[in-house]
Amino acid sequence: MIRVGINGYGTIGKRVAAAVRAQPDMSVVGVAKTRPNHEAATAVDSGFDLYAAVEEREPRFAEAGIELAGDVEHLVAESDIVVDGCPSGVGAENAAMYREHDTPALLQGGEDADAVDASFVARANYDSVTGAELVRVVSCNSTGLSRLIAPLREEYGIEKVRATLVRRGGDPAQSGRGPINDILPDPVALPSHHGPDVNTIFPDLAIDTLGLKVPATLMHTHSINVTLASEADAEAVRERLAAESRLFLIPGWLDLDGAGDIKELAGDAGRPRADVWENCIWGESITVEGRDLYLFQAVHQEADVVPENVDAIRAVLGTASAAESIRTTNEAIGLEDSLERGQF
Ligand SMILES: NC(=O)c1ccc[n+]([C@@H]2O[C@H](COP(=O)([O-])OP(=O)(O)OC[C@H]3O[C@@H](n4cnc5c(N)ncnc54)[C@H](OP(=O)(O)O)[C@@H]3O)[C@@H](O)[C@H]2O)c1
Repeated sequence: MIRVGINGYGTIGKRVAAAVRAQPDMSVVGVAKTRPNHEAATAVDSGFDLYAAVEEREPRFAEAGIELAGDVEHLVAESDIVVDGCPSGVGAENAAMYREHDTPALLQGGEDADAVDASFVARANYDSVTGAELVRVVSCNSTGLSRLIAPLREEYGIEKVRATLVRRGGDPAQSGRGPINDILPDPVALPSHHGPDVNTIFPDLAIDTLGLKVPATLMHTHSINVTLASEADAEAVRERLAAESRLFLIPGWLDLDGAGDIKELAGDAGRPRADVWENCIWGESITVEGRDLYLFQAVHQEADVVPENVDAIRAVLGTASAAESIRTTNEAIGLEDSLERGQF
């Protein structure tokens, strides 16, 4: 069993902890928190051992009646690998601790690419991170773009990707980012950082990205134009993308007109936290004009990186091939039951 520590139990950390626990070859050593809040309470209720991320704050856990298993240094020492789900920038600060304990660690997309040895998307560059000490699972947007780009590159070749990312203003629980009522070009200067981030996965890819932020919390929506290197027709592209386990081609009859409906479906299908781990591509939007492919996809920012973190654990430790890991992860969390098939 691979012993996994989770340092940072917020939006991403708690989802990764649950996904790791569901795997047949992994166990969760425990999770680290800076304070005893509602997430600490549910971590304990879920049976996770709790570790103090900040030594001076340990007494606060005792005051709240929460027993600690130790501090974060113990968690790191006891783990074969750590998933760092701390806020942007804190992960890079923690890197020295991971290196000191000789424990490999996964940082998240909020960290700079140069803070790590390699960046990761399972479908694109699984084998390249084996043996690395510090690996970054790229952001939700970069993950969503890379999953789409990988099969298109293999099947048709890509001349250029142009993507406009309509990004949610904040996660549902991020009250600090709202209330908002605006549509912001973000960043105003082009291109946005997302293209260079995708280049950490596909270094030679020509890609330009533009970003906006809108007053929404549920998902991001991408408007995509890919100039393919060879001719394609829309139906063939649809079939090729539908064959990818982490791309969900939305059939028209499901009548999913936006992120609200997609999240509703995920909740009705019994997905934990109504999480949508796959890219959701509107099948009808897939259009080809000459070598130009167009489509819309939605990406659940809180969820798509979760299976990627699980795969990155096996990739770093070299315990399974990409295909084995993706299959095992998907089965264990229930992603194999596609949102369409799972219903009926
Ligand atoms: N949310 C998304 O949509 C999303 C998507 C993809 C990637 N990411 C990336 O994932 C990373 C985490 O983001 P998130 O959204 O999960 O953030 P988050 O919800 O704010 O969770 C981070 C948690 O880390 C804890 N924390 C703060 N300082 C810590 C420390 N020194 N040691 C241990 N824990 C600490 C905080 O909880 P306590 O202080 O209460 O312990 C906080 O709840 C970031 O790099 C982000 O860019 C986020």
